[in-house]
Amino acid sequence: MNTQSAAAIAALAQRGVTSLPPLGIVLGSGLGGLVDEAQDALVIPYAEIPGFPVPSVAGHSGRLVVATLAGKRVALFQGRGHYYERGDARAMFAAIETFQALGGRTLVLTNAAGGLDPAWSPPTLAAIVDHINYAGANPLIGLPSDKRFVPLTEAYDRRLLATMKQAATSAGIALREGVYMWFSGPSFETPAEIRAAKILGADLVGMSTVPETLIARYFGLRVAAVSLVTNFAAGLSGGDPSHEETQAVAARGSRQFRALLKAFVAAHEDAP
Ligand code: HPA
Repeated sequence: MNTQSAAAIAALAQRGVTSLPPLGIVLGSGLGGLVDEAQDALVIPYAEIPGFPVPSVAGHSGRLVVATLAGKRVALFQGRGHYYERGDARAMFAAIETFQALGGRTLVLTNAAGGLDPAWSPPTLAAIVDHINYAGANPLIGLPSDKRFVPLTEAYDRRLLATMKQAATSAGIALREGVYMWFSGPSFETPAEIRAAKILGADLVGMSTVPETLIARYFGLRVAAVSLVTNFAAGLSGGDPSHEETQAVAARGSRQFRALLKAFVAAHEDAP
């Protein structure tokens, strides 16, 4: 085990946390407020857990919240570390390893993304069905085990995707599906990059999530991921993305995003 993860587990034990729920959710832009809808919350700032990322981005707090949501105990990761903050693709490594070591089995990743389909007017929700690692960085480089050769034929779990779609239907929420292309950021894309992304098969572009998927799959977690499309991607009609627009539209889409996640939690059954 990574020494930081071992220290994280020790720090959590000191706070009385010796196990975590099987279901975890990484809350991206627009979803942090989910924490306010949870009950019986135990809140631990990332700054008090070795190896957990202390976010440097406005709109992202850094807290591990263990709480009851839609009747179930869940581990909420309120805020994430991004590759673009420090050039570290392993920013979420200790958090995800700790989650798995303490009982985590399923990880739901959420983010804000740019949309490539002119029909997806922001804010729109889209389940991620596959990804393209265009940033090229990989958090598994250098890990000293053959486990690093992680198969990604089904990086995003089909059964979780089916549950997510059912949850959307039952909550009356439109949910698109698409391929997410990871750009390192922090700059947004150029129109030429977005045209290339379209040709390569992407529906969504964003600056997070993919490294977390790779780490989670390395640790054998099942992964689901959902994007909140906050803007048309650069160069599309109406597409001139900015951090301010992302934040503002994420806030507008937040209510539906939270409703979708709560419906998912209610419907989710832990596989053995
Ligand atoms: N590009 C990359 N990341 C994003 C975007 C975008 O257009 N919107 C929100 N996050």
